[in-house]
Formats: sequence, C-alpha cells, structure tokens
Amino acid sequence: MTVTLNQAKGPEFTRIYSYGAARGEVAVPNDDLIGPIDSSDEWIRQRTGIVTRTRAVPTTSATDLATEAAREAVERSGVNPADIDLVIVGTISNVQQTPSMAAVVADRIGANPAAAYDSNAACAGFAYAVAQADALIRAGAAKYAVVIGAEKLSDIVDPTDRSISFLLGDGAGAAVIGPSDFAGISPTVWGSDGSKADAVGMDHTLIEFRDGESAWPTLRQEGPTVFRWAVWEMAKVAKQALDAAGIEAKDLAAFIPHQANMRIIDEFAKQLKLPDTVAIGRDIETTGNTSAASVPLAAHRLLQEHPELSGGLALQIGFGAGLVFGAQVVVLP
Ligand SMILES: CC(C)(COP(=O)(O)OP(=O)(O)OC[C@H]1O[C@@H](n2cnc3c(N)ncnc32)[C@H](O)[C@@H]1OP(=O)(O)O)[C@@H](O)C(=O)NCCC(=O)NCCS
Repeated sequence: MTVTLNQAKGPEFTRIYSYGAARGEVAVPNDDLIGPIDSSDEWIRQRTGIVTRTRAVPTTSATDLATEAAREAVERSGVNPADIDLVIVGTISNVQQTPSMAAVVADRIGANPAAAYDSNAACAGFAYAVAQADALIRAGAAKYAVVIGAEKLSDIVDPTDRSISFLLGDGAGAAVIGPSDFAGISPTVWGSDGSKADAVGMDHTLIEFRDGESAWPTLRQEGPTVFRWAVWEMAKVAKQALDAAGIEAKDLAAFIPHQANMRIIDEFAKQLKLPDTVAIGRDIETTGNTSAASVPLAAHRLLQEHPELSGGLALQIGFGAGLVFGAQVVVLP
C-alpha cells in the first residue's frame, strides 16, 4: 500500500459541562390515577415513594421537551451551538419511528449539521448516551456533544394498567459533554440480558395494532421481577462502576440512580453502604419515572438544590427494558 489513511484521535479526557431540564407542565397527583386501577394514594406512596408525577399537555411532544432541556444545557455550557457536532437522544417514546428526535433537536438548537441519532436503551438511555459521547469524543469522532434523555411516556400508558402506568411521567434531561483537562467520566459498566425481554416493555406491536388485533400498544411490566433484578443485580453493577472508576462509596458527593422506585433507591444506598454525606437523587417523588430522562433530571435538581455538589463525584446508574443497564461515575459540573 502506497498511501496511508488519516485516522482520528481525540483528547485524552472528557467531562460534563452542564445540565438542562424540562418537565411536563402538569403535576398529576396519585388521586387522579387510582380510580381505574383500584389503588390508593397511600399504596402508591408506600410502595413507590411517588406523590405526583409530571406529565406534558397534548400539544407538547417529547421532541419539544428534549429541545427545551438541550437549550438550557447548551446555554449553561458556554459552548457555541455551532460547535456542537454530535447530538444523541436516548428515548423509547418517539411517536415517529423516523426521522429521529435528535436530528430535529440539533437543528432547533442551532447545531445543524451535527451528527444526530436516537438510541433506545430504555431507562439506561442516558448512561448509554454518556458512554457513547465520551467514547466518540476521545476517539476524535466529535468535539462537543449534547446527550439527552427525553420521554413522553404518557403517550404509551394505559390508565387501566396497574403494573406500571401510575409510575410514569414526562420530561427530558440534557448534558453537554466535551474535552477536559482531567478525567470527568469514568469507564462505563454496561450490558444487557435479553433473556428477560418480557419483564418490561410494550404489550403489543404496531403490526398487531394496525391489523386491529390489539389496542394502542402501551408499557407493561412484571413489577416484582424487575424489582428483584434491580435490587440484586444492579447494586452489583453500581459497585463494579465504583471499582472501574477506582474510587470508593465514601469518595462520592452524590448518587444518582434511575428513578424507578424509592424503595429500590433506598435498597441501593444500603447495599452500597453510602455514608450520610452522599446526596441521593430522589426526584421520583414529584416527577415519577421518566425512563431515559430520569437520571439527568435528578442530577439537574440535585445541583439546583445543592450547588455545593459542583466539582464532586456522582455515581449514576440506569436500568430497564431490554433488560439493559449502564453505570459510570462523573464529575458534576
Ligand atoms: C410495580 C411495583 C411498585 C409493585 O409493587 P410490589 O410491592 O412489587 O407489588 P406486588 O406486585 O408484589 O403486589 C403486592 C400487592 O399489591 C397489589 N397491587 C399491585 N399493583 C397495585 C396497584 N397499582 N395499586 C394497588 N395495589 C396493587 C397486588 O395485587 C398485591 O396484593 P396482594 O398482596 O393482596 O396479593 C414494584 O414491583 C416496582 O416498583 N417494580 C419495579 C419498577 C421498575 O423499576 N420498573 C420500571 C422499569 S425501569
């Protein structure tokens, strides 16, 4: 071979520069949902820790929520939108299979012609997107990325379903990721277990719906199966992420798990032996479970309520339909 190719190589380190958030406009209390599922405000509070969840009005789309969150993150980052060359949206609730939400968001925030794509890793969507942006920037495939978790789950719930519908909310969380002088994102521990694909997901396909064989497909889950898997297997993944980062629980400033159930969050904290000094993301109480958006929304809120966490280490973990999981430690902006 007489010619040699150029091959890309990026900076040694990356970090999160900023977060942005958008929640559905309406706070929906438990009492508004309990009728069709024969439940109670007390049962939902005790079993899940949810008091209200945010849901978007009909005219607000998941793409609108993603745009609002991305705009805030970009504004706070100080990065010129025209310098953003990668936009990744983690989502399971885009009501159009194509075009991607990411391409539309990239254009709306002034990042056209950034590379843009959606990625479906359910409630691990944000951890997956962070892993991708970190790797792509360090490989020299992009310089500045916006990663977004965005969901309008209210479009895919059945109000008569008592397995999951009452947990779910609408929102989007975003982060700007770029080159750094120091290590700001640890190695990601991620994976999947498709043998448990039936534990949580849509109850019907679009083909079944088209052919009149089913109602509009909505989310369902085997709650106790997912609960046990989360508590046992995900606590191990969280510990592996600490090991991969080369730190211990006592080094953390914050723990930001997927907002699936307050009891799961409490169990994680116990198993990880988190000292009282570690702030824990508990956004689920008023936002509900927003799948891919839940981790960045909880991070955004923690930083708003505790600005002193800035510069500290946060362990984040997402897990959900697939089944899939992803965890890493990040330096909070
Ligand atoms: C869904 C979840 C809250 C249910 O709580 P749980 O404690 O596991 O409840 P169970 O399904 O074991 O049911 C316990 C009892 O509550 C009842 N129950 C179940 N759902 C109910 C509801 N929505 N309202 C009222 N009662 C309900 C059951 O019938 C059962 O009654 P019984 O004891 O008389 O038989 C819980 O399993 C969970 O949070 N799972 C994981 C959530 C998650 O992470 N999912 C998203 C994927 S990321």
